[in-house]
Amino acid sequence: MDKVHVPVLLKESLNALNINPTSFYIDCTLGDGGHSIEILRRLNSEGLLLSIDQDRYAIDFVKRYYKDEIKSNWHIVESNFAKLDEILLRYERKPDGILIDLGLSSRQLEKSHNRGFSYLKEEEPLDMRMSMNLEVKAKDLLLGLTEKELTTLFRKYGEERYANRIAKEIKKNITDIDTVGDLTRLVYRVVPAAHQSSKNPSRRVFQALRIAVNDELNSLKKVLDISFKFLNSKGRICVISFHSLEDRIVKDYFNSLAVSGEGVLLSKEVIAPTEEEAEINPRSASAKLRIIEKI
Ligand SMILES: C[S@@+](CC[C@H](N)C(=O)[O-])C[C@H]1O[C@@H](n2cnc3c(N)ncnc32)[C@H](O)[C@@H]1O
Repeated sequence: MDKVHVPVLLKESLNALNINPTSFYIDCTLGDGGHSIEILRRLNSEGLLLSIDQDRYAIDFVKRYYKDEIKSNWHIVESNFAKLDEILLRYERKPDGILIDLGLSSRQLEKSHNRGFSYLKEEEPLDMRMSMNLEVKAKDLLLGLTEKELTTLFRKYGEERYANRIAKEIKKNITDIDTVGDLTRLVYRVVPAAHQSSKNPSRRVFQALRIAVNDELNSLKKVLDISFKFLNSKGRICVISFHSLEDRIVKDYFNSLAVSGEGVLLSKEVIAPTEEEAEINPRSASAKLRIIEKI
């Protein structure tokens, strides 16, 4: 039996979307379909839901798992959400609400199809591609980037304090690094024990590599721009982010729309999970929801 991803801030994001049964909604990050299915259940036959994911394993899972609930008004598309404008050319309607729930689902971490997303899966190769259409894997970055470039990458995308030491050690031992375990053991060796928190010291390096392999921050900037451009007046964009680099992009973009008078911030204070949600689902603990409404 598959262990399904628990949707984060579900009640809050459904409230934020303010669903009208006849309107058009887009879930840019289908994942295991937790948010999508709840949106779909609130629509009638005139309403439309478009769900997107770049991971074909996620799409296959949802099509199997929800096979009895898939109706003609639920469109599921395999694509990077950065190409939302191309997808929307096929539609005559403008969306009334767009949800973006960033990162990976817990099932991708646990059942990665050998892509090494999690630093706990020691035997898996250093791949990290969410989409099989991408060509560059995490290991290719370790091989192809110079020590200086790797340092910048770990610093910029991982906010890693020991970026230089880790990069140096990687380049020195590159022929011995193939699996997740090879990299995590190297990081353990390099990061001074005194500075190791209760969290795994490799998590920042893994975050940085994943962001780079999937060009995550640029995709986010693109989808925000496209979403706002295509959105109906009074339509809303809701973004759930999980680390400060993503949240900063969302915050700055939404603030700029509020300042220019094109949008109204519906989340002046960021919306975070309740203590109860964070306890039941520890993965939700770092989640932040921001909402903007188009004038
Ligand atoms: C946190 S999960 C979404 C979970 C989902 N809301 C649920 O409740 O089941 C994020 C999903 O977004 C997908 N994803 C991340 N970046 C993407 C991108 N640039 N384009 C399309 N899908 C993306 C991932 O493959 C993953 O399946």
